[in-house]
Formats: sequence, structure tokens, C-alpha cells
Amino acid sequence: MNVRRPLAVLTAGLVLSLSACGGGGAGSTDGASSSSAKPEDITVGVAMPTQTSERWIADGKAVKEGLEKAGYKVDLQYANDDIPTQGQQIDQMITKGDDLLILAAIDGTALSSQLDAAKAANIKVISYDRLIRDSANVDFYVSFDNYKVGVQQGTALLTGLGLLNADGSKGTATGPFNVELFAGSLDDNNAGFFWNGAFDTIKPFIDSGVIKIKSGQTKIDEAATLRWQQEVAQKRMEDLLTSAYSDGSKVDGVLSPYDGISRGIITALQNAGYGGSGNKMPIITGQDAEIASVKLINDGVQYATIFKDTRKLAEQAITVAEAYLDGKEPEANDTKTYDNGVKVVPSFLLQSDIVYKDNIKPLLVDSGYYTQAEVDAGQAS
Ligand code: GAL
Repeated sequence: MNVRRPLAVLTAGLVLSLSACGGGGAGSTDGASSSSAKPEDITVGVAMPTQTSERWIADGKAVKEGLEKAGYKVDLQYANDDIPTQGQQIDQMITKGDDLLILAAIDGTALSSQLDAAKAANIKVISYDRLIRDSANVDFYVSFDNYKVGVQQGTALLTGLGLLNADGSKGTATGPFNVELFAGSLDDNNAGFFWNGAFDTIKPFIDSGVIKIKSGQTKIDEAATLRWQQEVAQKRMEDLLTSAYSDGSKVDGVLSPYDGISRGIITALQNAGYGGSGNKMPIITGQDAEIASVKLINDGVQYATIFKDTRKLAEQAITVAEAYLDGKEPEANDTKTYDNGVKVVPSFLLQSDIVYKDNIKPLLVDSGYYTQAEVDAGQAS
């Protein structure tokens, strides 16, 4: 089980701001705003995609703890990455009379009927990290700057290959380098943002011939990984090694959008002899700073990941929930980027950081996200 230590300062601010609105929330019986409801009469439904990924466990835990600390009841559900299960869970949240919904979709296009029902019951919907598409009834989106996450992934790859220096200036490496590209799950709106950010960043090097995509698979739908699954990524990497590298050539870099995918790629490469003597691991990127992958970075197996502080995302979701339950409009910091196909959803986007071996301590340990012992063990206690 993964335990995050709360940021003391965030928690204190949260409790203060939430207690300031006590008594001004929504009613638990009809889901509508009512100035008389107390936090303990309010239930927030929280739908998360899966417990097979450490990050979503951390998100669910942080959202639940923050809401409970503020006095609300929380109805937290995980759906095992199964789309119908998630639909049913949200249907039930609405029928039970949950007062507000915080939803991290499995398939961002599959929740329209649930959102229609939420709207009819006057329940506000906050889309959590993954944008819910094709519905007018998404009230708000909390996430990170997902295009920039992709840029950071591309930058990490270029830095690892020596094409960029740590300060962003041009590196001394000349290549050419063999690189393979992986994308996330195409039903997740984020996948395209990560891909575009990363691809735009490395494209000049592809165009100049310094980076070669030996498999020729340069389109997102060729590179996609259904449900972001480690096994799917491992299988594709094995296939790529067989189809494009049986001539003795080596993979120098792999763009990966998520740590679980990176671990699948690493397994395939290790099974093919990479990481042994005289056969070094390619530069491999990632995302989420999952503890198992942070250890791999510390051990020099994976090159980098992107740290998106789930504590801050949870805190932001709660701030937005609090505003709605208090009958106010939450503050957005982006009202242009996230068009869900029906409307541009007002968003609050957070910033992310690239984690390399040499900044694990300042970013992850000193901030209390992990202890040094957890990093060393590759397991959260
Ligand atoms: C995305 C999310 C990433 C990663 C991925 C796989 O939606 O933004 O951080 O967690 O899902 O779970």
C-alpha cells in the first residue's frame, strides 16, 4: 500500500479554507446546492480507474483523506480499468444521492449518459486528470499541463542521448541514434497531449536524421498502448526488437509516456540482453514517478520520469469541489486548451518536473513524497 505523507502546508491551508465554508454546501438528499447543509451531510463520489497502478491509489487516497479531513463523506470507487464497471459505479453514485462527482475516466468518451444524469440531478462534475469528452456536462477539469509533460518527456530523451545538455543547450552527441516511440491509451485524452508535446520536441532531430525510428512506427496509433498496460508495452517492445533489430543493431532510446509502460519496455529489453555487460540500456523516459520506477532511475536502469505531485492535484480537486459546494465558481487558470468536443472545459493545470537520478532527493525525498528508504527499496511502505 502506498502512503503519501501530506504536505503540511497544503493540508493546513485546505482545512482552513474548507472550514471557512462549513455550513454552506450542497444538500445530501437531492444533490442540489443548499445553504444549510453541513460538510458531514455531504457525500462526494470519487471514481478512479484502477488499483493496478500505484499513482491512482495515491490519488484516491489523497482525495479521500483531504475531503474527510474537511468533514465530508467520501464514496471512493475503483473500476479495475473496466469501462462498464466504472459506468455502473457512477450511476450508483448518482442514484445514492452523492452531492458532487470527481471522476478520473477509463475511457474519456464513455461517460455521457452518466453526465446527463448528473446534470439532471444538479450534481457538479469535476473531471480529474483525464478530460471527459463529448459532453457539455463536465463542469471543471483539474490536471497538469499535459502538452508540457510531453515536452518534458521529449527533453529527457534528448538529454539522455546527449543531444541536449542539462541546461537545455545543444549537446555534443551527434548520433545517429535508434529510437522507438510509445504512446498511451488512445481513449485517454491525455495520450495525444503527451505524444504531441514529445513528438514536437524530438521532430527536428528526426528530420535531420540524428534520430532514426528504425521500426518506421511514427504514428500515435502505431505506438499506442491500450489501457496503458505494462504487458501490452512489453509485447510491443519484444515485437519491435524482433522485427527491426535482429540485424544486430541496438536501440539507443525509447520514448515512454508512463512508468508502467517503461517497466514493460525494460523487461523486454532485459530479456533480450540489454543492461548486461557491454550492452547498455537505452535511454528510457516515463511518467508519474512511481516508486518502482524511481528505484530503477536510482539504479541507472530507467533514465527519467515526470513527477506530477498527486497531493497537489488532489488538493486542487478539493478546492474546486469546495467552491461548488459553497455555491461559488471555482478559479480556472486555463480556459482555452481543453476542448472536449462539445465545449472548452475551464481548467486548473498544475506544473510537473523531470526527475533524473541526480534530483530524486530534492524533488521526491525532500518534499516528503517518498522516504529515502522507500526509494532504496523501490516500494512505498
Ligand atoms: C494518464 C495520466 C498519467 C498516467 C496514465 C496511466 O491519464 O495523466 O499520469 O497515470 O494515465 O495511468
